[in-house]
Amino acid sequence: MQPTLHLGQTLEFDGNPFHAGLDAARHRRRGGVLVAEGRMLAVDEGETLRAAHPQAQVTDHGARLILPGFVDAHAHYSQTAIIASWGKRLIDWLNTYTFPEEMRFADPAHAARIAETYLDLNLANGITTAACYCTIHTESVDALMRASEARGLAMVAGKVMMDRNAPEGLRDTARSGHDDSAALIARWHGRGRLRYAITPRFAPTSTPEQLESAGALFAAHPDCAMQTHLSEQAEEIAWVRALFPQDTDYLAVYERFGLTGPGAVMGHAIHLSDREWAALRDGGTGIAHCPTSNTFIGSGLFDMDRAQGLGIPVGLATDVGGGSSFSMLRTMAAAYEVAQLRGRALHPAELVWLATAGSAEVLRLGHEIGRLAPGRMADLVILDLASTPVIAQRAARATGFWEALFPTIMLGDDRAIANVLIAGQPLRP
Ligand code: GUN
Ligand code: ZN
Repeated sequence: MQPTLHLGQTLEFDGNPFHAGLDAARHRRRGGVLVAEGRMLAVDEGETLRAAHPQAQVTDHGARLILPGFVDAHAHYSQTAIIASWGKRLIDWLNTYTFPEEMRFADPAHAARIAETYLDLNLANGITTAACYCTIHTESVDALMRASEARGLAMVAGKVMMDRNAPEGLRDTARSGHDDSAALIARWHGRGRLRYAITPRFAPTSTPEQLESAGALFAAHPDCAMQTHLSEQAEEIAWVRALFPQDTDYLAVYERFGLTGPGAVMGHAIHLSDREWAALRDGGTGIAHCPTSNTFIGSGLFDMDRAQGLGIPVGLATDVGGGSSFSMLRTMAAAYEVAQLRGRALHPAELVWLATAGSAEVLRLGHEIGRLAPGRMADLVILDLASTPVIAQRAARATGFWEALFPTIMLGDDRAIANVLIAGQPLRP
């Protein structure tokens, strides 16, 4: 098959800029990405690749920036229809808005409709992979997996396990939650680009028996992801203390049931003790940082520098629909704002890393997606750095690449996503 050479600005990472600094990032003003059979064959200077591959079909993106597709490390596709629901904190928000909507996923037609809408929104925003919570209904997983497969997407998703503190009609049991999850793993995990995530919602909505069965599943399927929520809000943490009095802290509950370690991704992780921070580091457990959600629901300010300093894998996440945006650019902007409130300005390189390789690595997909690098899948975003007049005028004054990129991070939306490629195939002509 004839390769395609994409020309434009490019940004590569040799490592994590939180650890290695800006030297880990390589920007090319006139770079090239050579793609064949869905994968990147080479990333280099555009003219070098053009000379070496004269037979390649050339697509010139001009001054646009070629990036890996954004990776959303934590989202609830089932909450697409209730995004931007007013006035509640976490537990009331779940009871008032979330659970009634998730109930509707008993209807496979509703699940199928929302799955398509959700993927449309993701792709409009350059998100090519997401780790999704579905609902307790197996049909909710089938709907998202089927729709993702049809679009050739690398998706991670799982059936929510929840057998207490949720309304009638939205609870499984320890047995059915285990068996349904096992059947879904058999059906979807490793089928093409799809991966399964074992998904106990969070400690308060599972009995110890259910957490134990989730841990058994993770032990039996160690290459699945495991996703849950950890220490998002003060009231939630007090609730966990009351429900699990024998455990030292919130994370200890998950540790007791084998729900930590490589491949386990904790959403939020805002209010942690010194012991919990150390245990996350020692266990190799990852974190999904959800900044728009944390400000929208009023949860708190994640300590990015502490997580990075400990070497904990951290990805960036929309947490739709507790999160207030489908845009990964807006989510990067919120991560910047949250860090500012803690006294640190995240560099644009750090923000891009989080939204791409950081999220890919926390999901253990870093060998497949998340970077411009030979061998990785060609899931790409073509970013317009002058997508609106206000962004264009600010970028025009920039004295260097990072200053030209930052206005798009802070002010950009789906208009900045000029095109998206999935396994080398452009969505738009
Ligand atoms: N904790 C438990 N479930 C949820 C959820 O659906 N969204 C958020 N933000 N936090 C949760
Ligand atoms: Zn969540």
